[in-house]
Amino acid sequence: MKHFTSILQLGDLQEALAEAAAIKADPFAHQQLGRNKTLLLVFFNNSLRTRLSTQKAGLNLGMNVIVLDVNQGAWKLETGHGVIMDGDKSEHLLEAIPVMGSYCDMIGVRSFARFESKEDDYNEVILNQFIQYSGRPVFSMEAATRHPLQTFADILTIEEHKTKARPKVVMTWAPHPKALPQAVPNSFIEGMSMTDYDFVIANPEGYDLAPEFVGKAWVTHDQDEALAGADFVYAKNWASYEHYGEVLSRDRSWTVTKEKMALTNDAFFLHCLPVRRNMIVSDEVIESPRSLVIPEAANREYAAQTVIKRLLESL
Ligand code: CP
Repeated sequence: MKHFTSILQLGDLQEALAEAAAIKADPFAHQQLGRNKTLLLVFFNNSLRTRLSTQKAGLNLGMNVIVLDVNQGAWKLETGHGVIMDGDKSEHLLEAIPVMGSYCDMIGVRSFARFESKEDDYNEVILNQFIQYSGRPVFSMEAATRHPLQTFADILTIEEHKTKARPKVVMTWAPHPKALPQAVPNSFIEGMSMTDYDFVIANPEGYDLAPEFVGKAWVTHDQDEALAGADFVYAKNWASYEHYGEVLSRDRSWTVTKEKMALTNDAFFLHCLPVRRNMIVSDEVIESPRSLVIPEAANREYAAQTVIKRLLESL
């Protein structure tokens, strides 16, 4: 594996899950692999879980880890080509990227959707520039259209808790005050395509995700229908794809409540976090014994470590 930008690049999912489980059982077994290697983590956006879990994963592998918050302490970066740089941006990304590459052996990038242009976001302009110009293996720590490390941790968590071979997994849209990217749901759909779970997407009209991600997945605009008999409920907000980046609804009848969970097969609750309580999910659901949000976040470390290990093995 040269770069990692999509969960599909893991190849055989069962092999990847077994590797992650072995790493979780013995996180320091591969300390020699990363010795004298430097991992640079570049954040264009805020992060708690990705920042800490990926840093920890690199340290577990014996790597030196540097974290750069582009928006705090670095020069303000221009990303557009052909721009006359007479404004407040002092450095162009096209110089910054190879410079960053010269200080490390591998780069993780958190770039996020900007919602300025669907085309730019869905072409992953920032992430692809890192791949093109850094000269290093690059992995996504969430980009404009995918969050593969999150999905890997999500599936690891489902595998640890499922009680039947083919659980029913529902990914439901839920309300949020702001426009959020489609990266987590897009990636989750890709991840589900690698399993044989009974997978359903529930979202209001106007919130259908990009057809290239939805593929043949079952989509319903009736949340109650989707939740019936579910074994896992994955809640997430996303902004409209069709009316790109717009918030069309804050309908709190889509909030995952105790009453909604009563429609399920005593389902486990999942969310990538951070979560807006009583918008996305009620206090009682997220605090219930069926909520997996904390072990799900903890698994981010082992998902990241599996990916970084594979990239180190390809150096
Ligand atoms: N789930 C997730 O990626 O969390 P952070 O944005 O805090 O990293």
